[in-house]
Amino acid sequence: MPLPSPHTYLCLAALLLAWTAPAAVAGTYTASAHGDSASGVSGRASGYATGNCAHCHDQHASRQATTHTPYNVLRGLSEENLCLDCHDGTPAADDISAQVAKTYGHGPTITGTSDSHTTSKLELATTSEGSAFRGALRHVECSDCHNPHEVQTGNHTYNTTTPSDNNLVSSPLTGVWGVEPASEPTTFVPATTYTEVSAATKEYQICFKCHTYYAFQDADGVTSLTGPSGQTATDQSMEFSRNNRSVHPVRYTLTLQTNSDALDASQLASPWSDNPGSQTMYCSDCHGADDELAGGAKGPHGATSKYLLKGYFKDSAVYWPASSAGKLWSLNDISQVDNSSGSAPTINTTAAVQSELFCLNCHNSFGGTATNPFATSTDRNTWANNAHQKHDGRRYQPDGGDDHNVYCIACHSAIPHGMRRSALIVYDGRDTTYGSDTPPYVYKVGTTTYAALSGFKKTSHLSYSRANCFSTVSGCSGDHPDAGGYEGD
Ligand code: HEC
Ligand code: HEC
Ligand code: HEC
Ligand code: HEC
Ligand code: HEC
Ligand code: HEC
Ligand code: HEC
Repeated sequence: MPLPSPHTYLCLAALLLAWTAPAAVAGTYTASAHGDSASGVSGRASGYATGNCAHCHDQHASRQATTHTPYNVLRGLSEENLCLDCHDGTPAADDISAQVAKTYGHGPTITGTSDSHTTSKLELATTSEGSAFRGALRHVECSDCHNPHEVQTGNHTYNTTTPSDNNLVSSPLTGVWGVEPASEPTTFVPATTYTEVSAATKEYQICFKCHTYYAFQDADGVTSLTGPSGQTATDQSMEFSRNNRSVHPVRYTLTLQTNSDALDASQLASPWSDNPGSQTMYCSDCHGADDELAGGAKGPHGATSKYLLKGYFKDSAVYWPASSAGKLWSLNDISQVDNSSGSAPTINTTAAVQSELFCLNCHNSFGGTATNPFATSTDRNTWANNAHQKHDGRRYQPDGGDDHNVYCIACHSAIPHGMRRSALIVYDGRDTTYGSDTPPYVYKVGTTTYAALSGFKKTSHLSYSRANCFSTVSGCSGDHPDAGGYEGD
């Protein structure tokens, strides 16, 4: 192998300068996972040393038609095809090809769109106001989330020293630009102004390029786009606003969230139970491959289960708001689960509840194991708050089933990111005295609305009484008449 000659770098840099200024490429590149002279890119262009640009770039633009910029210099392989030439398990260890081939997640869009980054769009640098991710141009490619010149190896793990830093960009996302909302709306509407940050410091800033008003320009935050899993694309700046009454702590810790506060440690599984109120989390703590714990390549690339939901605690595909059998989760699934003394649940099977219920990844307060989270019958009957406990054996099934069950989405938002009400509660829109929420947050199939509440007041975790909730639906309204004072908009 010849040594990497400085001339090679200069020659290519000079060539590429014809398109754009390669600002800071060389400096950060040599310290990157790809540029490393021992473990970096190799084997894809003969005669070049490990780490050389030529394993990705064709210096003389000879292999592809001149219409492609800058891909005419990328060894004739466009977009993900260049990356997957190596990231298919050999020689680079992480098999991303297997992930993007899966039915759900970003894979279908990554492989299904071509020429997204070619027609004069160099998206390693900021583009103007999100237009590249909007309308007919909407796309996602590897280099929207990874910068091939600065990428580092590693994965994020829970930061126990500074738990509020559990949203900082992890090594593979080094050097990617993102956007930060420049304002925090007080009601449940999207932020409409953004600051472009290069490079992003938080993982969510990268996701926000494509999953907020910055891309959508949609005033109510509920778009007409549909993802591979069949859900309407919504605005994550609205859902993760600092002013929402409840939220998963992706941007701010719950203590810093204006209108929320910490859960009790007993409501969380390790490591989350160590720092209630003072921790943040990644989008990719919930969204990732179904087989990450089993050694599959990490990251929100693709999954066999809908919505890219990741088995964080369990080594299996996990599901929400319904099981793999398509049956909605209910409180009776938990309280009736058979752990030697209880009787089996009536809608989902015991095995499904134990291995598939997504929320138990992190809200497993049962002191159990990954294979049986329901270690003690006391825990499974209360499940960390008495609003759950009190519905053991109650009945609210708007789809006509006759078992004693109350589905999770009778009370909670189908999209569990953040809501204007506390505890991710949604209002069904039947009585609008205190406000209303709409699909897809309100779970609705055809004309049947599954949500059941028109009012909610938060209280301390084990002190819920009937008056904390107001409902007008048959089966609930008798116990929960309008007692006044519920959370409004
Ligand atoms: C792992 C593959 C890979 C390696 C190695 C690599 N590049 Fe790139 N480079 C890319 C990709 C992919 C793009 C286009 C990114 C986009 O906009 O989608 C690119 C774009 C560029 C551009 C266009 C401007 C820009 O930043 O978008 C320049 C200039 C460039 N590379 C120079 C270099 C130089 C010089 C080296 C070696 C020091 C190098 N590259 C090594 C993959 C690579
Ligand atoms: C010529 C082969 C080659 C190509 C092409 C290539 N890579 Fe890599 N990539 C590597 C190697 C080798 C490593 C370093 C692996 C290591 O050190 O464990 C790496 C590392 C990475 C990492 C860090 C992985 C980790 O374990 O954390 C990411 C992310 C990555 N590449 C993304 C990309 C993207 C995106 C592209 C396309 C723009 C691309 N790669 C193209 C060979 C390649
Ligand atoms: C939507 C953003 C996004 C897209 C698109 C994306 N990645 Fe990733 N990728 C991530 C995140 C996030 C991680 C995990 C970071 C972590 O572990 O904290 C990751 C991790 C990786 C890793 C390391 C995996 C491991 O197990 O260590 C590689 C390699 C990689 N990506 C390559 C690719 C390639 C190749 C493509 C295109 C086919 C791609 N990525 C598309 C966000 C993305
Ligand atoms: C470059 C644009 C882009 C970026 C960056 C991006 N996404 Fe996406 N994402 C898409 C597109 C396109 C879809 C398909 C649906 C649509 O058009 O909204 C999608 C769909 C999804 C879906 C639904 C998948 C399904 O099976 O229905 C999830 C979950 C998701 N993205 C999470 C993330 C996360 C987490 C990040 C940041 C780590 C991220 N995205 C970054 C463009 C992007
Ligand atoms: C606590 C876990 C959790 C976190 C954290 C989380 N998500 Fe999700 N997300 C989900 C679940 C569950 C769904 C599926 C909702 C449904 O059933 O429709 C979902 C759905 C989605 C979808 C598809 C539907 C839509 O609303 O567009 C996208 C895109 C998405 N998430 C992006 C993100 C991004 C970006 C972040 C970080 C800013 C993030 N998620 C953080 C759990 C989470
Ligand atoms: C990857 C881990 C993870 C998963 C999966 C997860 N959560 Fe959470 N959840 C958290 C963390 C962390 C907090 C914040 C706890 C704290 O710091 O006090 C939280 C907080 C909450 C809160 C309180 C929010 C507030 O502002 O009061 C609710 C309600 C909640 N989660 C419901 C759910 C539901 C429903 C699901 C399943 C659809 C789910 N979570 C899945 C990690 C997770
Ligand atoms: C009858 C309404 C109702 C139903 C049905 C319901 N929840 Fe809840 N849930 C609540 C309330 C109220 C809270 C807030 C408790 C508090 O303040 O700690 C809550 C809190 C949570 C939390 C946050 C941590 C905790 O334990 O308090 C999670 C996770 C959660 N619910 C998941 C679920 C899942 C999964 C289901 C279905 C199996 C479900 N919920 C069904 C009302 C409901």
